Amino acid sequence: MIDSRMQAVMNFVSFGSRVADIGADHGYLSIELAKSGRAAKIIATEKNIYPCEAALKNISAAGFGEAIDVRLGDGLQVLTAGEVDTICIAGMGGALIRKILDDAPEVVQSARQLILQPMNGVKKIRAWLAENDWTIDDEDLAESAGIIYEIISAVKVPSAPKSFKRDSSPLLKKFFAQRVEKLQRVLSEMSKSPAARASDKFAAVQAEIDTLRRLC
Ligand SMILES: C[S@@+](CC[C@H](N)C(=O)[O-])C[C@H]1O[C@@H](n2cnc3c(N)ncnc32)[C@H](O)[C@@H]1O
Repeated sequence: MIDSRMQAVMNFVSFGSRVADIGADHGYLSIELAKSGRAAKIIATEKNIYPCEAALKNISAAGFGEAIDVRLGDGLQVLTAGEVDTICIAGMGGALIRKILDDAPEVVQSARQLILQPMNGVKKIRAWLAENDWTIDDEDLAESAGIIYEIISAVKVPSAPKSFKRDSSPLLKKFFAQRVEKLQRVLSEMSKSPAARASDKFAAVQAEIDTLRRLC
């Protein structure tokens, strides 16, 4: 039922953890988590009424009406501190994910793991994690409908360093190549303005392209 993007999110959920699926939409991630037996508790949240109703319907049809607690509300506001160990936020923009995290510091602080899959603005997420003392303990890539997504797992208390799933992903070179293409489009737009061409950002984008090309 879930695609490889959501499967990659699910793979990062620690066994036995109490999980919040924020912005659950259809509820598929929560349903697969319940099926897998990975989570000790699942709370699926939605800000909007129609997806919330869809989640309730799908969860009930899958037979997990009792096992999955569905809550309507904004971000982490519908949780209390200490209620979950793992917070999954997938399929939203990086800026929105940051806002959801910033708006509920006590809930975030009480969690042990964040699993984040931004649709864009991944740098914003990495910066937020660093600023807020979260350590990225694993990363993966997943391709769905031709788009490669980045999935990040971060923890408060890192264990011994290990190799990231992403580094051995068969998608890695393709992901770098797609990123080069995207950055080239940015450079080409910037090139139209002499001021933009002379900016630090232009040089930074060019440097990132050069680095990625060496890795492709
Ligand atoms: C594109 S869907 C992603 C659904 C699912 N998480 C996935 O990865 O496929 C984003 C969902 O987040 C919900 N959403 C947007 N802002 C939210 C917020 N502040 N709090 C909770 N849910 C939110 C939307 O209603 C929508 O159902």
